[in-house]
Amino acid sequence: MNAIVCVDKNWGIGKNGELLFNIPEDMQNFVLNTINKPVIMGLNTLHSLPGGKSLKNRLNIVIAPKEEKLPDDVIHVTNIKELSDYLAENNLTDKAMVIGGGMVYNALLPFCDYVFVTKVDADGYADTFIQDLDDPNEGFELLYKTPLKNADITISAEKKCPISMQYIIYKNMRY
Ligand SMILES: NC(=O)c1ccc[n+]([C@@H]2O[C@H](COP(=O)([O-])OP(=O)(O)OC[C@H]3O[C@@H](n4cnc5c(N)ncnc54)[C@H](OP(=O)(O)O)[C@@H]3O)[C@@H](O)[C@H]2O)c1
Repeated sequence: MNAIVCVDKNWGIGKNGELLFNIPEDMQNFVLNTINKPVIMGLNTLHSLPGGKSLKNRLNIVIAPKEEKLPDDVIHVTNIKELSDYLAENNLTDKAMVIGGGMVYNALLPFCDYVFVTKVDADGYADTFIQDLDDPNEGFELLYKTPLKNADITISAEKKCPISMQYIIYKNMRY
């Protein structure tokens, strides 16, 4: 199992139930890394997707309380044990990609082999964070990083704003 996440310089990932940044280039990167794979997300992240609908061309696995009514096309699991049983029974553990949000990353990153991070060199004033993967206590090592590059954040249909970002791959040292 691997994970993909976009963080700001403080390891913030979201605010008010939404992403911090709308970066079209990073969205393309997200699609390339998740297409045709099983994706694992929490209920709040499902709600944050356009129309609260699942992602196309991916098997959507959602961790949510039992009483929640989820779209028919998602696999509903209620805890990590159910998730890991489902992945193992269907031979999906290696292919699965954890896509958020905060609660799910915090629970599952320790079980991920690789974490694909887009790091934005800005403060998104987040209310949701993941663990600092540069902290040696978290058990990851930086395997690869691109230089900082310029990209655009879409603010509105007419307005864009330049930022710097880089792609980083962390490897879990536990495995
Ligand atoms: N930057 C990025 O790459 C990225 C990616 C995805 C999402 N996000 C952002 O992250 C934020 C959402 O994160 P979040 O932490 O609020 O929600 P979340 O992790 O998406 O979902 C939380 C929900 O999932 C359930 N859940 C999660 N982990 C569980 C576990 N281990 N066991 C049982 N149930 C579990 C919770 O159940 P309970 O109700 O029982 O607690 C809760 O209902 C949004 O702002 C979103 O935009 C950012």
